[in-house]
Amino acid sequence: MYYSEETVQEVCAANDIVDVIGQAVKLKRKGSSYFGLCPFHNEKTPSFSVSPGKQIFYCFGCGAGGDVVSFVMNYENMTFPEAVKSLADRVGYNLPEVSLSEEGRAKKKEKDRILAILKDAASFYFKLLRSPAGENGMAYFKKRGIGDNIMQSFGLGYAGKKSEVTAFLKEKGYSDNEINAAGLVYIDEKRGMRDRFFNRVIFPIMDVNNHVIGFGGRVMGDGEPKYLNSPETAIFDKGKNLYGLNAARRSRKGYMIACEGYMDVISMHQAGFTEAVASLGTAFTPDHARVLKRYTEDVRLAYDSDGAGVKAALRAIPILRDAGIRTRVINLKPCKDPDEFIKKFGKDEFSKRVEEAEQSLCFEIHVMEKNHDLSDPEGRTRFQQEMAKRLSVIKDEIERNNYTEAFAAEYMMDSDMLKRAVEQIRLMGDTSALNSSTSHPPGSSEVKRNTDKASSGMAGSQKILLTLMCEEPDKVYKAVKQYLDPEDFSPGMIGTCAELLYKQLDEGGPKISAIVNHFEDPEEQRQAAEIFSAPIDPFISNKDKENVITDLVIKIKKDSLKRIAMEEDEDPISRTLREKRVLEKLEKVRITLE
Ligand code: CTP
Ligand code: MN
Repeated sequence: MYYSEETVQEVCAANDIVDVIGQAVKLKRKGSSYFGLCPFHNEKTPSFSVSPGKQIFYCFGCGAGGDVVSFVMNYENMTFPEAVKSLADRVGYNLPEVSLSEEGRAKKKEKDRILAILKDAASFYFKLLRSPAGENGMAYFKKRGIGDNIMQSFGLGYAGKKSEVTAFLKEKGYSDNEINAAGLVYIDEKRGMRDRFFNRVIFPIMDVNNHVIGFGGRVMGDGEPKYLNSPETAIFDKGKNLYGLNAARRSRKGYMIACEGYMDVISMHQAGFTEAVASLGTAFTPDHARVLKRYTEDVRLAYDSDGAGVKAALRAIPILRDAGIRTRVINLKPCKDPDEFIKKFGKDEFSKRVEEAEQSLCFEIHVMEKNHDLSDPEGRTRFQQEMAKRLSVIKDEIERNNYTEAFAAEYMMDSDMLKRAVEQIRLMGDTSALNSSTSHPPGSSEVKRNTDKASSGMAGSQKILLTLMCEEPDKVYKAVKQYLDPEDFSPGMIGTCAELLYKQLDEGGPKISAIVNHFEDPEEQRQAAEIFSAPIDPFISNKDKENVITDLVIKIKKDSLKRIAMEEDEDPISRTLREKRVLEKLEKVRITLE
């Protein structure tokens, strides 16, 4: 882990979960918890609960849950260290510097310096665009239909004709070397350092944390090159960054649109498609795919509709597939790119195209079809062979058969024959021509959640008891622990949570958020939050509560007896005797909460 457990605990302690979530979700008090509309799924009645006592959240609708850090991670789409940092900043907590070597420190200093230069440069370009000197730039953006709001939020700017930025940065005290390292200049033999961006409109490129890491500059009209980009620097890696992701990661549409250009992203955001990002002037890389995987498993490609765009899409699809992302391809015809499409047909028509985007596999096969002459037997044969090869890559048998049948029908082929061809290729392991290997697993966490619910009898009882124990440790825990040990709870997540809860309560007080935090995997954090968030009727009488707890204790103990018998195959006679003794004792169990 990046920060020590203590540090994380201190940051959490300083950030009350109700305050933090309350800034994002409207919360209303109900009993000992707060409720609001869940930000992680669509709902009309509130099932999203936040517990000030336990410092955790849990949604009864979709099962999202965790502590304050996991909330920020999910809501802001941040990594763990990013979320801790953001919470620390929120309360002015000084995080200890992550210990770096001498060399690491020097590197970090250089990077910080470049970030500062780029930030200053960006605000210079930004202001210049809005000054009389930026008139041309402003006219250009207006001509392309970009409104003030988008210009503002994307930080668009203008680079003048007189090497203004270099002069401005030197004035601010940055050295020639630093300005050069930031990629803002080129060295002219006669005239020395000159602005790299000259008489161009400027698109700042930001990382996910809204730091400017580079620029793209477009000529206003014809001229070469059309776009000029920052070179790779200590902080700018084109293969890893996606333009627009800083905004798109907040869109929560459940999918992302990947396109080619600056203007496409901007047009789409302006039209409300704030889920659009672009890989700028470079091919889509596995790093891009990994970055996107943090936010979504469903990507729609809105690449240019020309030959180059189709080729780029065909290259991106297997890269995305290998990262575990399903891909669809948006048809932009008769337009060249999303910017053009939206201008010509409007956002509703575009929205339809996004909806109707073609599954990547169908797209691939349809492109294949166009490359062969199906009226010629030889062309048809080659097409069918290629198709079989592509189909053979699909891992899941049902999915493979479904697609095989669908394509056989579409191209009027004998489906058994196509199936045999596919299976034969699989047997020979000959999929060399296709560099993809995985088919996508179905929405995995959803499935897990549903099976959880189905088998929830014993698990449900244990969750209710653990929730009651942590809510009223003085009464419930004291009573229950006379009868149940942590080992009596089912092994796995519940057992581990029980063990941690007992330990904490014995040490003087439950810190449920610390238990949640104990787990590193977000899915485990969610489960832990769920375990301690069982629904309890706030108006239940003490008498009823005693009865419920008594029943739960007996039920759980009996289950544990069964489990122990199975685990340690003891001889049947002594087992029966032992069980009889325990059961007799259980008959007499009466939980009282004084
Ligand atoms: N690109 C680049 N360098 C170039 C040309 C293009 O980096 N010389 C990148 C830019 O990020 C550009 C993208 O590739 O946005 C797509 O290029 P292209 O389709 O030519 O431009 P458009 O996005 O259509 O730009 P515009 O609408 O402004 O003409
Ligand atoms: Mn364009």
